[in-house]
Amino acid sequence: MAKPDWFTVRWSDDGVVMLDQRRLPSEEIYLTLKSVEEIAQSIENLAVRGAPAIGCTAAMGVARAAVTSEAATLSDLRSDLELAIKRLEQTRPTAVNLFWALRRMGALIDQVCEESGADVARVRQRLVVEAERVLAEDIEICRAIGASGLELIPRDARIMTHCNAGALATGGYGTALGVVRAARDAGRGVSVISNETRPFLQGARLTAWELQRDDVPVTVVTDNMVGHLMRTGEVDLVVVGADRVAANGDVANKIGTYTVAVLAREHSIPFYVAAPVSTIDLETPSGAEIPIEERGREEIAEIGERPILPAGVPVRHPAFDVTPATLVTAIVTEKGVVRPPYVETLSALFR
Ligand code: MRU
Repeated sequence: MAKPDWFTVRWSDDGVVMLDQRRLPSEEIYLTLKSVEEIAQSIENLAVRGAPAIGCTAAMGVARAAVTSEAATLSDLRSDLELAIKRLEQTRPTAVNLFWALRRMGALIDQVCEESGADVARVRQRLVVEAERVLAEDIEICRAIGASGLELIPRDARIMTHCNAGALATGGYGTALGVVRAARDAGRGVSVISNETRPFLQGARLTAWELQRDDVPVTVVTDNMVGHLMRTGEVDLVVVGADRVAANGDVANKIGTYTVAVLAREHSIPFYVAAPVSTIDLETPSGAEIPIEERGREEIAEIGERPILPAGVPVRHPAFDVTPATLVTAIVTEKGVVRPPYVETLSALFR
């Protein structure tokens, strides 16, 4: 497959460069973010989103904090980096890749500071290298997820997906859409039904954009059409991404995923989750303990900037839901396809 002519996020000496996903599909604008605060806000305001992409961006945020710190001593640099990590931790609560990436950067800071002859310049340089490595590894992992998932995808499969778990949500290639890309590249003749994904419309704006750019046939439907399409036999399987997989196999993903999974079960359609091992959180026993982000009113009450609700009417806005493990046919990781009983098969991935 040819390399795409766009990217999600990249390190540069001038700052962290990212495609502003709020403006897709009408405008392709890259932001260059120089400060940790700007990088944290880009995660909060969804300029960059998707669990693995958030992890990559956070790692670069820590590297950027090191590069921009005016500290002259190791202990001052460490204090600056601790503050940066704390700020980045506060951006979004559900996607565990954020905390995974920040822990990885934190562990490296400890390690380098304890090396003999360590100084500020060495810590800076090692953090930049590590952040670029997190991104490069993420792309490789997505390709491996795609290769693992191939065994699940029959010829001419009509694949439903929800939200965007594509190149835009990762360092590149994608998790759920990585499986789609691998199937396409293997000549399986697949097509995608992308649920629009109210309220931020990741399925309509982002999944459709990146699949069209990649010449993968894609049709967008509104979220409330899913049951009808399944009942009329137009969906062969579902593949979605994940923001966090609990130790028992419960899956937190974009709001609406649970509804799709219930409908898939009712219609005997396989429901697959594609995610890197870094999205599996063995410290969280079940979905009940996964923090669910609540976002602001405006994303529900307005489309564009046009109000669609009477002023003053309250809204609820949980941004994620939990699909119980019993509805998940299999989880596709870079280490292979994992099936129930998830308590055993997920923990085996870490041994
Ligand atoms: O709010 P978002 O757009 O960050 O939510 C993204 C999702 O729910 C994705 O499906 C998930 O992060 C998997 S990305 C490979």
